[in-house]
Amino acid sequence: MRVLVLGGGGREHALAWGLERSDSVDEVFVGPGNPGTANVATNVALDAVDPEAVLEVARDRAIDLVVIGPEAPLVAGVADVLRSEGIATFGPNADGARLEGSKAWMKEVLASAGVPTAMHATFGAGEEDRALAYLEGMAGFYVVKTDGLAAGKGVVVTESIDEARDAVRSYLSGDAFGDAGRTLVIEEGLTGPELSLLVLCDGSLEGVALAPAQDFKRIGTGDTGPNTGGMGAYSPVPFVSDEIIESVMTGSVALTLAELRRRDIEYRGVLYAGIMLTPQGPKMLEYNVRFGDPECEVVVPRIASDLGVHLYEAATSRMTTKVEFSTDAAVTVVVAAEGYPASPRIGDRIEGLAEADAVEGVTVFHAGTRSSDNAEAVFTAGGRVLAVTGCGASIKVARSRAYQAVGCLNWPGITFRPDIAANAVVEEV
Ligand code: AMP
Ligand code: GLY
Repeated sequence: MRVLVLGGGGREHALAWGLERSDSVDEVFVGPGNPGTANVATNVALDAVDPEAVLEVARDRAIDLVVIGPEAPLVAGVADVLRSEGIATFGPNADGARLEGSKAWMKEVLASAGVPTAMHATFGAGEEDRALAYLEGMAGFYVVKTDGLAAGKGVVVTESIDEARDAVRSYLSGDAFGDAGRTLVIEEGLTGPELSLLVLCDGSLEGVALAPAQDFKRIGTGDTGPNTGGMGAYSPVPFVSDEIIESVMTGSVALTLAELRRRDIEYRGVLYAGIMLTPQGPKMLEYNVRFGDPECEVVVPRIASDLGVHLYEAATSRMTTKVEFSTDAAVTVVVAAEGYPASPRIGDRIEGLAEADAVEGVTVFHAGTRSSDNAEAVFTAGGRVLAVTGCGASIKVARSRAYQAVGCLNWPGITFRPDIAANAVVEEV
C-alpha cells in the first residue's frame, strides 16, 4: 500500500514513522512534511489545505490511502474531495470536522446527544454586554474559548474576572484571533485530571479506543502560564482504569456517534475526546477530529499491531483487525522555541539531534524544523520544535530516557517543561 500523510508537524512525523514500520505499507509520502519525516518517508511539496493540490499528488503517486494529520484540511473539506474521487481517506468530511471547527456547534451536538460537559453559553458579534453580564453570574472560575480554530491557544482559563473580561473583549472584536474569536463560548471552570482518548472510527456507531494519554497544555512548570498546543504527553495513564475508558466510550463517544448519524454524518478517522475526570464523573471538554499532538507521539509508538491496516480499515470498511498495544510506556517532551506560544524565536541551528536520537528507546519527532539547503544542518522553524519520545518498561524508564535525550539538545532559548509525567511516575505501581 502507498500512503500519503498530510501535514508537517510532530504528529505527522509519528504517523509516517509508524506507517513506515507497518508490513502493510510499501511506501510513505508526507506533504509537505519536515526534515524529520524526510528520514522515514518521501516529502512532497504541497499545500495540505488545497484539495486540488492534494488530489493531484495522490493521483501522480498512485496513492492507496491518504491520512489527514491536522484539523485545517479536514475543516476545509479535503477529505470530501478525495472521497468523492474514490481515494481512501482517513479523516472525517467537513461535516464531521465541524466538531472541532466550531465549539458552539460541538456544544450543541453534546447537548442533543446527552453527553456530560461544562455548562456554557455562546455569544457572537454585538453581544459583548450580554457576555460580560454572563461572566458576572459565574462562580469565580472562568473559561472563555474561541468558537473557531486557534491552534490550541484560543482558551483562557482563569480565576480573574478582569482577565476573562479582557478575553471576551479581544475575542469578540476580532483583535485576538480574527474571525475565529468573533463568536465565543463561555463555560464554567471544571477541575480534575485530564485525559485524552483517541478513538478510531470507521463510520459505524462503535469506535475503537486507543491507549489513553495525558497531555500538558500549559507552557509553564506546574501547569502555569498560557495554554499551548501541548508541551508533553505520556501513555498509559496510571489513574485511568479500563472502567473509566468504558464509561467514556458508552457515556460520551457512542452517544456522539449516534447523534452524528442522526444528522446524516458518517465519521471516519480519529475522534479525539478531551475529557476532565471531575468529582461528578467524566465531562467532555472538547472534541478534536484528528490525532492529538503530542499525544500521537506517545500513542503511535505503543501500537504493536499494523498501523497501516487500522487506518485503511477505518477509512474504507469496518475495523475488524484488533489493535494491539505494547506494555511499554511512552513519554514525550516537547522542546519549544523561546517565546512560545506568544511569539516564538525561530531560525536557530539545532545542536545535538543525532546524540538525542541515539539514546536507547528514544525517537526524536520533528515538529517545527527546517533544514539548510544541503540538508546538513537543521534549524528551528516553529514554536514547538521537537517532540522527544522515550519508550521503556515503565513510565519512569521512558521518562528518564526522554529527558536524557532532551539534555543532548541545544539552541539559544531552548524551552521545555521539566515536569512532564513526573506525577505519573509517583502513581505508577
Ligand atoms: P480545549 O481546547 O477546549 O480542550 O481547552 C484547552 C484546555 O483548557 C483543556 O485541556 C483544559 O486544560 C482547559 N479547559 C478547557 N475547558 C475547561 C473547563 N471548562 N474547565 C477547566 N479547564 C478547562
Ligand atoms: N494536544 C492537544 C491537541 O492536539 O489538541
